[in-house]
Amino acid sequence: MDQRAIGMFDSGVGGMTVFKELMSSLPNEDIIYIGDTASFPYGGKSKETIIELSKKQIQNLINKNVKMIVIACGTATSQALKEMKHLFSIPIIGIIEPTAIYLKKENIKNIGIIATAGTIRSRGWEEEIRRKIENSHIQSRACPLLAPMAEEGWIDNEIAKLVIHEYVKDLKDIDALVLGCTHYPLFQRLIKQELSEKVKIINTGKMVSNEVKEYLKKNHLENEKAHQPNYKIYLTDTECNFIQVASRLVQDKTIIKNIEKI
Ligand code: DGL
Repeated sequence: MDQRAIGMFDSGVGGMTVFKELMSSLPNEDIIYIGDTASFPYGGKSKETIIELSKKQIQNLINKNVKMIVIACGTATSQALKEMKHLFSIPIIGIIEPTAIYLKKENIKNIGIIATAGTIRSRGWEEEIRRKIENSHIQSRACPLLAPMAEEGWIDNEIAKLVIHEYVKDLKDIDALVLGCTHYPLFQRLIKQELSEKVKIINTGKMVSNEVKEYLKKNHLENEKAHQPNYKIYLTDTECNFIQVASRLVQDKTIIKNIEKI
C-alpha cells in the first residue's frame, strides 16, 4: 500500500486523455499532472531536447513525492523513455509498450500509426510493434499540425476535418489506427469519420491505465484507502488554452480550476 500520487507529464493538454483513463480505472489514486506548456510543442524538437525536457519534468514530479511516473506523451516516450529509466530509479511507464502488448494480444497485424514528426522519425512505435508482432504491416504518418490544433481547441471544426483527411487518406487496408500522440484522441470523432467502420481506433490512454493498474497491484503500491482522490495539475506556462480544452475532456470542472504554475 502506497498513498503517494501517480505523477504524469506531457507537453500540454494531450496527456489529459491519459489522465482521464487513469481517473476512471484507478478511482482511489491521487494524480499529479504537469503540462509543459512553456516548451510546447515537443513534436518537432530534437531527441537531445526531448531528453532534457523529460528529465526536468520527471525531476519536478519526483520533488512532489510521486510513487511512479507515466510519460503521457508519445514524443517523450519514443525518444526519452529508455534514457529516463537509466537515469531515475522511480518506476516509469510510457505509452508505447502497453499499446504494443494490446495489439499483440488482439492479434492485430495491419496497423496504421499517426504521431508527431519526432515520434515517427524515431521509429519508436514501429520497432516496438515489430519486436512483439511477427509479420506486422505498419504504415506510419507524421501529423505535425494536429497537436498544435488540439492546444488551440480546434478539435471539431472544418479545418480539423480537412487536415485529418489529408493525413489519413493514403492509409490502406489497416485493421487498426494507433493514435500515437496523446493529443489525438481529442480528434477521435473526426478520425473515425475518415476511416472505414472496421478500423479499430487505438487510444493509448486505456492501455496505459491498464498497465499502471497491473503494475501497482503486482508491486503492492495501490492506494487502498477509500477516499476522495486528489488531482493536481501544474503548467510550466499558464498563458494558454489548457483549461478550455481540458474541460471538454474532464467532467468534474473543479479538477481543472485550481491549476498552478510550476
Ligand atoms: N502529446 C504529445 C505526444 O504524444 C506531444 C505533442 C507535441 O507536443 O507536439 O506526442
